Amino acid sequence: MNHSPDDILKMVADPIFRLIGEAADELGQEAFVVGGYVRDGVMGRPQANDLDFVTVGSGIALAKKVAKKTSAGKVHVFRNFGTAMIRHEELELEFVGARKESYDRGSRKPTVEEGSLEDDQNRRDFTVNALAIQLNAASFGQLLDPFDGIRDIAEERIRTPLDPDLTYSDDPLRMLRAIRFSCQLGFAIDKDSLKAIKRNAHRLEIVSNERIIAEFNKVMACPMPSKGLAQMFDTGLIHLFFPELVDLQGVEEVEGKLHKDNFYHTLEVLDNLCKRTDKLWLRWAALLHDIGKPVVKKFNNDIGWTFHNHEFVGAKMIPRLFRRLKLPMGESMRYVKKLVMLSSRPAVLSEDEVTDSAVRRLLFDAGDELEDLMMLCESDITTKNAKKKQTYLKNFEIVREKLKQVEEADRIRNWQPPIDGATIMAAFQIGPGPEIGQIKNAIREAILEGDIPNEHEAAFGFMIQKGEALGLKPKNS
Ligand code: CTP
Repeated sequence: MNHSPDDILKMVADPIFRLIGEAADELGQEAFVVGGYVRDGVMGRPQANDLDFVTVGSGIALAKKVAKKTSAGKVHVFRNFGTAMIRHEELELEFVGARKESYDRGSRKPTVEEGSLEDDQNRRDFTVNALAIQLNAASFGQLLDPFDGIRDIAEERIRTPLDPDLTYSDDPLRMLRAIRFSCQLGFAIDKDSLKAIKRNAHRLEIVSNERIIAEFNKVMACPMPSKGLAQMFDTGLIHLFFPELVDLQGVEEVEGKLHKDNFYHTLEVLDNLCKRTDKLWLRWAALLHDIGKPVVKKFNNDIGWTFHNHEFVGAKMIPRLFRRLKLPMGESMRYVKKLVMLSSRPAVLSEDEVTDSAVRRLLFDAGDELEDLMMLCESDITTKNAKKKQTYLKNFEIVREKLKQVEEADRIRNWQPPIDGATIMAAFQIGPGPEIGQIKNAIREAILEGDIPNEHEAAFGFMIQKGEALGLKPKNS
């Protein structure tokens, strides 16, 4: 913890803070640096490059004055919010006039009035985010902590400055923020706050999916996202925007046969994976790898619970889910879909007699994503039986070895088939038509099956045979 007067002075040692203080003095306004920058500084965490400043008076006027005194170019003014932003070196400086806010119950749009610093601190989300450091020359470097934020940091607690019912109902996104900060900082949510979140959970309905998912993704980026996700489940928040995950929860029993709880299994897989990678979309693939299971779940008298085709059904659900959650629809979505679709393939390979053609097919289908897929599958081992775990891991090692051997021999990964459509059209002097696709597929299948080698000459010969079988006449015949 860094909160001695010296520590605080170090936090504002960059000359920009004195300069902002001077600009505020010239305007006759008080100015403070607030929020995450101060919290992270006190905690000794790496500080973000976006800094928030509050001034008692006009934030826009202060931003303009600061911009004049520095080489900062444009002042970006957001009149609706009464805020202005400037860039200074690597920093993004955001200025706002101290406000008193009250919210309409039906919307997130606050009615804003000018207020004192105290009013402004009152309307902030958490005590640990309400710390402010004064920048005016007369009191430069003085820490203001009206709600015992320093104590809450020391005791690792997320607490609202005001009655939590009021803070959360004013801005329901804060319920998710409480969970996000708890997961990110390793703090516990204060008991009264937690109760208030459960009471007010339904109010998340008025918050847009864009804002929800921004918080959700910060949880996904934590070292152990399961903590945040389990809290979202326990408070009932996740039910409002992600029912597909909720459907994974629960264990059913028929004739004494149980299946595993796929929600808690998914959380374990995700945590396992997070120890190995920071890649957000790979983490999403882990979160969604079993998402099709509740849809296809069946009980079979002979073999018990089955989840046939859950990867295909799950993969098909992904575009709709991404669209609804306002996640990016391009490459990231396709990547997650592909991994979900392939998520059982390495395990199947490890169970069966591994044929070269099955390995070639996996290399071909996974392409660049092979390593990520293997990482996902290895993270999917959640058995508590140490012996079984060793066996599964060993099997994946065998699969990895086999993949390496076949790839070295056949170069299937990111493979371009040796014959393209133009070659087929020229060889038979035909125009575009369904035969081109048929011949191309047949060549690909023959190579993957190992019927012909992955070479131009062999593929060309095979193409001629296949074309003739379709009734085509090769040129010069
Ligand atoms: N804030 C709030 N209610 C919100 C969002 C933000 O009271 N719904 C206040 C908090 O005081 C917060 C500050 O605005 O500290 C800045 O918000 P933001 O940049 O979202 O969070 P940081 O605390 O800076 O943390 P991080 O950068 O990790 O998001």
